Amino acid sequence: MCGIVGYIGYREAVPVLIKGLEHLEYRGYDSAGVAFITQKTGHIHVIKQKGKLARLKEDLRDVHLTSSVGIGHTRWATHGQPSRANAHPHMDMAGQIALVHNGIIENYAALKKELQHQGMTFQSETDTEVAANLIGSYYRKGCLVEALQKAVKRLEGFFAFAVIAKEEPDKLVVFKRSNPLVIGIGRGENFVASDAPAIMPYTNRVVYLEDDEFAILTRQNVQIFSLKTGKRVKRKPTTIHWSIAQAAKGGYPHFMLKEIFEQPRVVEMILKTRLRKGKIIFEKLDSKIAERLKHTQRIHFVSCGTAYHAGLVGSYMLGECLRVPVTTTVSSEFRYGDPTVGKHDLVILITQSGETADTLAAMREAKNKGALTLAIVNVVGSTIAREADWVIYTYAGPEIGVASTKAYLAQLATLALFSIFMAQIHPKGKIGHTKIHSLLRDLSKLPLQITETLKLETKINACAKDLYSKRTFLYLGRGYNYPTALEGALKLKEITYAHAHGYPAGEMKHGPIALIDKNQPVICICPRTSHTYEKMLSNIEEIRARKGIVLSVATRGDHAVQKLSRYTFFITKTEEMFSAVLAAIPIQLFAYKVASLNGRDVDQPRNLAKSVTVE
Ligand code: AGP
Repeated sequence: MCGIVGYIGYREAVPVLIKGLEHLEYRGYDSAGVAFITQKTGHIHVIKQKGKLARLKEDLRDVHLTSSVGIGHTRWATHGQPSRANAHPHMDMAGQIALVHNGIIENYAALKKELQHQGMTFQSETDTEVAANLIGSYYRKGCLVEALQKAVKRLEGFFAFAVIAKEEPDKLVVFKRSNPLVIGIGRGENFVASDAPAIMPYTNRVVYLEDDEFAILTRQNVQIFSLKTGKRVKRKPTTIHWSIAQAAKGGYPHFMLKEIFEQPRVVEMILKTRLRKGKIIFEKLDSKIAERLKHTQRIHFVSCGTAYHAGLVGSYMLGECLRVPVTTTVSSEFRYGDPTVGKHDLVILITQSGETADTLAAMREAKNKGALTLAIVNVVGSTIAREADWVIYTYAGPEIGVASTKAYLAQLATLALFSIFMAQIHPKGKIGHTKIHSLLRDLSKLPLQITETLKLETKINACAKDLYSKRTFLYLGRGYNYPTALEGALKLKEITYAHAHGYPAGEMKHGPIALIDKNQPVICICPRTSHTYEKMLSNIEEIRARKGIVLSVATRGDHAVQKLSRYTFFITKTEEMFSAVLAAIPIQLFAYKVASLNGRDVDQPRNLAKSVTVE
């Protein structure tokens, strides 16, 4: 999720841009830059750097140019490693325009080929530079708006742009589709940003653009137009009453809650980027890797914490799609366990940060033994992403809360696509076209179903008020939702500091049942589509017989479970393979609400780091 800032007015533009970018740093980024039109020469100057804003400010120290119009950017890499060349802003080859971008242009490869045939050259690996050159190819003096309109009509994907043109220094043009853009209304000056904190030091009067709208900002006014109709859109400014810190969290009290509510869009982005016209697409899959995938005889998931739980879900998904043995091991056990892997083994490292020490070491151990390594990573250009034989990015955007939520759902959605993809290419695939078609159809419904499931927040709040003082919690699940039980327990323990234990429900009689009494809350994940549903129902009855406090995650309309539970959190009916995606929502919200009621530091829980880069 990149950060965009734009300014046109009476102040020196660069300090305004830098201050705006500083208020967007919380989003995480790997490079930054600014572009501005100098009053004296009318040229566009672009200053950009890999790394943090401090490096960019270092470069700007020797720049003594005056400008009152410019754009700035903090980049969270999606296409192309973090580097100075890939940093924004990008210019077209002729140097007529400069552009910053937030989002993903899905058809950039084809457009790049077309522009190269026209003789365009490129300085970066980014999809953004393709957009800059496409706009440049349409640009005629005085027609920046028309050039932008023509270009966006040819782009597919999610994007927000801010563009300046050296021949038109009195305007800043922006466009929004899916990724947010907010315009700040000043006096004799106007602003644009991906997020309100960047403009709040100057104004709290804002206008939010809607999808497929563009706007022309001058020093005197802001005009908004619809791309579809070309007509002017009248929209009254609203006034933000948040503090800048609150605005960074989108008005949510914590980043964790904001990220829980970002999950529909994260899963939607993954499906739209990787599932096109029924075809599953992974970038950078070369023929050598594809060949080795087809000859894989064993698959091993290796990761830590929440990512380990995602690997467990992935092992059930692959088990449903392939007749190939799959194991799941925590990285610290794998790396020291002298694993029996070789050239016909696929080792899949799942990691949000891409820097977890045990997972990095496990990957190197697997590579040393000749295994094919695939990293499923959120942070582009991270160490594990760079060293693995192949990488699939999860595109969850920066995850600020230490407790992983949206990255987990992004991992599950990616693993579902990967499992179906393997069924399609591997000789031991065990699901046919009909099943694949039905799985992909149900997969595409998930974003809306996640949105629906998030409406449980109020009910979960009431339940948490009842139970937040409890000091021990037990989570039980079977099959795909055994990992959900583990994940629920981890979420709860890491942000509430209460004891929480996840267990396969079938193990109840082998120990945990001794815990059950009238003070023991037991969270039971019991979706109707599970092939072990009846078994799970019996477990719930056993808990109830011992007066345990039953909280159930059940399929909407399942009154059998509801009758046995003190609280029932209904999720939409979905394929068994995707039930862990929807079941994750109530367990995330429950952990969050219990932690908040206990006054915990939800985003930065004690003793924890976002990335465990040491053993
Ligand atoms: C999850 O909420 C925790 N923050 C932690 O278990 C985390 O999942 C684990 O450290 C793995 O991190 P990674 O995904 O960055 O490798």
